Amino acid sequence: ESPVIVAIDGPSGTGKSSTSKAVAAELGLSYLDTGAQYRAITWWMLSNGIDVEDPDEIALAATKPVIISGTDPKAPTITVDGADASAPIRTPEVTAAVSAVSAVPEVRRRLVDAQRCAAAHAAQGIVVEGRDIGTTVLPDATLKIFLTASAEARAARRNGELKGGQSMAATQEALVRRDAADSGRKTSPLIKADDAVEVDTTGLSLDQVIECVVTLIEEKR
Ligand code: C5P
Repeated sequence: ESPVIVAIDGPSGTGKSSTSKAVAAELGLSYLDTGAQYRAITWWMLSNGIDVEDPDEIALAATKPVIISGTDPKAPTITVDGADASAPIRTPEVTAAVSAVSAVPEVRRRLVDAQRCAAAHAAQGIVVEGRDIGTTVLPDATLKIFLTASAEARAARRNGELKGGQSMAATQEALVRRDAADSGRKTSPLIKADDAVEVDTTGLSLDQVIECVVTLIEEKR
């Protein structure tokens, strides 16, 4: 039987990362966090003085030979040219700039190629999470999941991760703004694939979402 390929898409704060990591670990599959890759290239651009308001400058920088790793649930580090970038890619500066960088087609082309390559080489199967995995990166995935949740639930979860610091209203506003940018862009916008299974996680615990996804995968195997 061919390796199972699971695409998990959806807006921020719907539990994509927690769910994807846990499902991959439970089923012995590889795991790829494509959002971390977009964050890594954004961080690298910010660190190298690229003007992230200028799409032409971003497009040119995207052709530079920087090496961005994938991620592994057992060793969740993302590296940029060999250096651990797992902390800096989560800063508010990167979060604020990532949607503009990832809207540039040259950036997407480069990372999408790497993502397809990672999926093709995952002999045990793979869970890939992002925004355009089911629609663009892996249209032939075995199973496509689209996670949703109310804006309030997403902001509450994100605030829990950030451990205070920001008001709930500010978190919700930032999330809504990023999702609007991701949904409104021209190249590979955030959108549910026609054949994706939509799971509304608003009233569900993480364990319930994991169980639901594992069951859906098992039905496909
Ligand atoms: O998943 P995460 O919130 O870390 O993703 C950060 C950003 O990366 C998203 O807001 C989006 O702009 C971009 N992204 C994307 N396509 C993906 C994954 C993430 O454009 N497949």
